Amino acid sequence: MLRCDTLIRNATVYDGSGAAPEAADVAIGGAKILAISPSLDCYAVMTIEADGLALAPGFIDTHTHDDTAVLRNPAMLPKISQGVTTVVTGNCGISAAPVRLKGEPPDPMNLLGDASAFRFPTFAAYAAAVAEMRPAVNVAALVGHTALRNNNMDALDREATADEVAGMRVQLEEALQHGALGLSTGLAYLSANAATTDEVVALAEPLADAEAIYTTHLRSESAAILDALQEAFTIGGRARVPIVVSHLKCTGVDNWGRSTEILTVVETARAAQPVVWDCYPYAASSSTLDLRQVDPRVKITITWSTPHPEAAGKLLAQIAEEWNIPQLDAARRLQPAGAIYHGMAEDDVRRILRHPATMIGSDGLPLDPHPHPRLWGAFPRVLGYYSRDERLFPLEEAVHKMTGLPALNFRLAQRGLIREGYYADLVLFDPIAIRDMATFDDPAQPAAGIDRVWVNGVASYSAGEVTEKRAGRYLPRASTTVRSE
Ligand code: ZN
Ligand code: CU
Repeated sequence: MLRCDTLIRNATVYDGSGAAPEAADVAIGGAKILAISPSLDCYAVMTIEADGLALAPGFIDTHTHDDTAVLRNPAMLPKISQGVTTVVTGNCGISAAPVRLKGEPPDPMNLLGDASAFRFPTFAAYAAAVAEMRPAVNVAALVGHTALRNNNMDALDREATADEVAGMRVQLEEALQHGALGLSTGLAYLSANAATTDEVVALAEPLADAEAIYTTHLRSESAAILDALQEAFTIGGRARVPIVVSHLKCTGVDNWGRSTEILTVVETARAAQPVVWDCYPYAASSSTLDLRQVDPRVKITITWSTPHPEAAGKLLAQIAEEWNIPQLDAARRLQPAGAIYHGMAEDDVRRILRHPATMIGSDGLPLDPHPHPRLWGAFPRVLGYYSRDERLFPLEEAVHKMTGLPALNFRLAQRGLIREGYYADLVLFDPIAIRDMATFDDPAQPAAGIDRVWVNGVASYSAGEVTEKRAGRYLPRASTTVRSE
């Protein structure tokens, strides 16, 4: 008789491909899925009766800023409690490695911590630290363009010189050799905004041979979004690399309703070159406090402020009123600070989420003292609220958006599907009970309805608790030739 470590019996299996679910038994042996069958006869060390529960591949959070969180808080409760088994770090141009600081990290690298958090002058050192720490979730990492700029430039408010680009390329190539998924940019931020398209193309060129990807927080997500998308397509086209547009959205009251137009533009581009995108399921964004986004028509919550810690959790409008000054002046006084901007239209969020090519990424900010609820709630919100309650798409499609699709687009080998021989990253959840509990008022709340989570075959979360044994791995890009461990 077949022997296995864990047998999950009679689960409703959503295999991650988007196919309709089927009842099956799934056997785990070591780190892998051993067998899947309508009825498995096998000697199991542990058997789980999963009647009425859904079994899916562990969710892949395509868009995170968990670079330092996986080392500081390796239990990774905000993510594993949602069923997330892999996080992609290094988004929006900011990464923990490779970084050599000259002082404090520039905005928005400060989202990853203060200077003490940046301990990895090489990407290899970061990858080794993750492998050694074994966080509860797998970690795959991008290299941030802003991090590279800051390593090689004395000022970030200008274009890089040829020498500086050469210095960045050397560091990027070291990272690619050690399994980095690709390069990310955050061109909207002032620390990267002065970079020209040519500067980014020069950095994107080595990605093609490495079979790596280019992800981008666009230069604009508001009035100039079409130009910003065109720039991304140009970079991808000239460097011959696939593009991931991060957190696709229409920001700002004047842009509400433009999602149809934007989806048409990205769809047209897809006919000519590989373009994909991720999205978080909320009509509010969050990052450092950006003066350009202060608009009295948009509700803005301050989540942290270095000079005014007492402002955390308060509305900018309320602070401005107390201080008896305009919101823009109050925002200036609060900096450096973090904010949540209720600056999107719900209809746009839904239209983008519904698109079959849309992947789910949380964009959660794990160090924020008053985080946007997406940090704890993004995945159950898609499954429960948007799929089950609002019927935006069937559950198998919701699962596909967070498993098979991102594994394909981010080139994560043997993940994202329930298949024999694939890694046993699995989540067992109750499709009736699954719900995001995190709210804007009370954001640090684990989801309801997540029954169990396995990472590389190891039971890592059950009954609301992280287990003692953590089993996350550092995941090198599929095409990496060097060994990761
Ligand atoms: Zn971003
Ligand atoms: Cu981001």
